[in-house]
Amino acid sequence: MKSGPVVVAGGLNTDILSRLPAPLRLGTSNPAHTTFSPGGVGRNLAQNLAQLGVPTRLLGVVGDDAFGESLLNLTAASGVDVSGVLRRAGPSGSYLAVLTEDGELHAGLSSMALTAALTDAEAQRWAGHLDTASALIVDANLPPEVVARLLDEAARRGVPSVLEPVSAPKAGRLRPLLSPARPVWLLSPDRAELAALTEQNLTAADDAALLDAAQQLRQRGADFVLITLGQRGSWLVGEGLPIHTPARQAQVLDVTGAGDALLAGLIAARWYGQGWPDALRQAHLCAALTIEALGAVRADLSSERLLAEWGRPVLLLSSAF
Ligand SMILES: Nc1ncnc2c1ncn2[C@@H]1O[C@H](COP(=O)(O)OP(=O)(O)OP(=O)(O)O)[C@@H](O)[C@H]1O
Ligand SMILES: [Mg+2]
Repeated sequence: MKSGPVVVAGGLNTDILSRLPAPLRLGTSNPAHTTFSPGGVGRNLAQNLAQLGVPTRLLGVVGDDAFGESLLNLTAASGVDVSGVLRRAGPSGSYLAVLTEDGELHAGLSSMALTAALTDAEAQRWAGHLDTASALIVDANLPPEVVARLLDEAARRGVPSVLEPVSAPKAGRLRPLLSPARPVWLLSPDRAELAALTEQNLTAADDAALLDAAQQLRQRGADFVLITLGQRGSWLVGEGLPIHTPARQAQVLDVTGAGDALLAGLIAARWYGQGWPDALRQAHLCAALTIEALGAVRADLSSERLLAEWGRPVLLLSSAF
């Protein structure tokens, strides 16, 4: 197994969260409390991995504005190698959420034109980053042809790949890409994304139906499928499985980034050579810690922090992804 960096390809955004102290009045100015913080699924995954001690390289694109500069600087400061992130003319990606007094989402506005405009030619130029990679993680914010190219280039090099579906609409775009000819080591849908990937209505599906849907994805080239179910934990489906792992009890403050922390915690544990049950427990611990704090990534999430929370070493020091 290679012990090189985990390469993460995906979105980099600035999360702009505006909380309203009173009901929203349309067509006029409203007082609000607004915060700006780095986000984007791929970027969040990369920051979490780097903080957990995994060498991590991020591939993506930012604009030529101050937000792009700041995203690059803050992400690099957390330990991520950002040398593969492109800078292009135009506005950097952003996600603007208008939240009610209770923190519920009123409206979310995603602006990711530069990421959406990435092409197969750029993906081909990125392929060299996979030569020494121990794993590839791709987020579905990238255009489907870029996702397909990166998965194929990873497969050609024997690099295991992880596909994070991001949202139900973006998962739907991945559906035609999945095939036994394009193997994916791990696919990590939530319930809505699993429904979009398998074209089924799973809104009220019981566990047996969810596991059945995951098996369908295995027949289309996914070795393992991690179904995340919020406070009900997760199911991991694959050879010799399934296993259910309960979520950790958490005092929820901000659910942003829960899924990203979960996946990064899982990959970090596997990178350090842990088996699935321990890796899954670590993953849920990372998710719980993340939703107990504001922002998509906790700057204090680290292996030391996990050790303190768990009371025993969670990351072994032998790399065998
Ligand atoms: N209310 C909660 N209580 C405890 N843990 C939670 C809660 N919500 C989420 N989690 C944790 O976060 C993990 C990921 O959340 P979820 O299953 O909602 O994934 P997701 O839909 O991909 O999330 P995201 O919107 O962040 O992408 C869960 O498996 C669980 O560990
Ligand atoms: Mg998710």
